[in-house]
Amino acid sequence: MTSVVALHDPNAPLDRRGRPLHDLRISVMDRCNFRCPYCMPKETYGEGYRFLGTSERLSFAEITRLAGLFVGLGVRKLRLTGGEPLLRAGLAELVGDLAALPDVQDVALTTNGVLLARHAEELKAQGLGRVTVSLDSLDPEVFRRMSGGYGSPAEIVEGIEAALAAGLAPLKINCVVERGSNDHTVLDLVERFRGTRVIVRFIEYMDVGTRNHWSRERVVTSAELHDRVHARWPLRPLAAGYHGEVAERYAFADGAGEVGFISSVSQPFCGACTRARLSSEGVLYTCLFATQGLDLRTPLRAGADDAALAALIGGAWLARNDRYSELRAELHAAGAERKIEMYYIGG
Ligand code: GTP
Ligand code: 5AD
Ligand code: SF4
Ligand code: SF4
Repeated sequence: MTSVVALHDPNAPLDRRGRPLHDLRISVMDRCNFRCPYCMPKETYGEGYRFLGTSERLSFAEITRLAGLFVGLGVRKLRLTGGEPLLRAGLAELVGDLAALPDVQDVALTTNGVLLARHAEELKAQGLGRVTVSLDSLDPEVFRRMSGGYGSPAEIVEGIEAALAAGLAPLKINCVVERGSNDHTVLDLVERFRGTRVIVRFIEYMDVGTRNHWSRERVVTSAELHDRVHARWPLRPLAAGYHGEVAERYAFADGAGEVGFISSVSQPFCGACTRARLSSEGVLYTCLFATQGLDLRTPLRAGADDAALAALIGGAWLARNDRYSELRAELHAAGAERKIEMYYIGG
């Protein structure tokens, strides 16, 4: 197991594997304007699919209150996710509320980028620190295959440019690589963003949820991708930017910036996982692959005070023993249990 953080708040709870609570990923919207087959395959999420109703989702005030309690338990990094978070009306307001919480060091956003050009400036003005944009290919046809037929690479690149112009730099791109779908276009992506303030990161295709027809054969490992990039533009390893960083970082030897590889399948990073996840309806999950969560919305709406809510959250963290990716081979083979879906928890 990876050793535990040296710099964590001594009052913060440690889970059963000695890991502190440091990051909170907040899903603000379960809907998405894409239908990426590895996340929300169209055959499941069609016209008739029932997403949450507005009153089922936490309000901004409720999210901010819970986030404040998580901060009290050690959280320093907040990341807004979806589905697609920019589908949530007035999201910049929430960014402003969260950025104003004492002790929050970083407020970031993960988006598919379609609505980014429209919102980049107000997000930055409200205190957003960083943005990560999903972009699986620059080839329009491949892109559409990966997005379920929505959007175009040109639109996403426009969103990225707008974010950079608004001062949201450096900016990261997440590219999920699926063998036979987009793996032949990865070098084009690297070439396009080398030498800019954009860091491309490749993510191994994961067996999140139960509906994406995952198979090990479709995973392109980071080792393979690294070798392909390295053969064209030599790379040298960089130290992690912070403890528990999910991406392994490499610099281009010629000084044209860096790339990252997220190897959740081939090299699990559970030992250093300090992330909690809050769904848009207020359920707390202690792992991306959880089968069960803790409902915080019911006590919140029933009038529980801060101490009671903090005790619930702290208790869930103390009981945490998750390390799905390290156990994937056994657990995936065993199948059966219904894992939460990616669109619902935002990665
Ligand atoms: P930075 O603070 O910029 O390093 O962000 P991040 O890498 O934590 O966030 P981002 O949303 O960009 O995460 C990239 C992707 O890595 C996610 O969307 C997931 O696909 C994957 N990932 C992030 N955290 C976890 C995790 O705890 N477990 C697993 N298995 N995958 C994760
Ligand atoms: N495997 C790996 N990454 C995924 N993402 C969504 N589904 C998967 C999957 N099955 C990524 C998205 C986005 C981030 C939130 O998670 O592409 O960048
Ligand atoms: Fe694709 Fe992200 Fe939407 Fe899932 S939430 S369908 S990964 S854009
Ligand atoms: Fe953390 Fe679960 Fe991912 Fe492991 S599988 S890194 S415990 S979220």
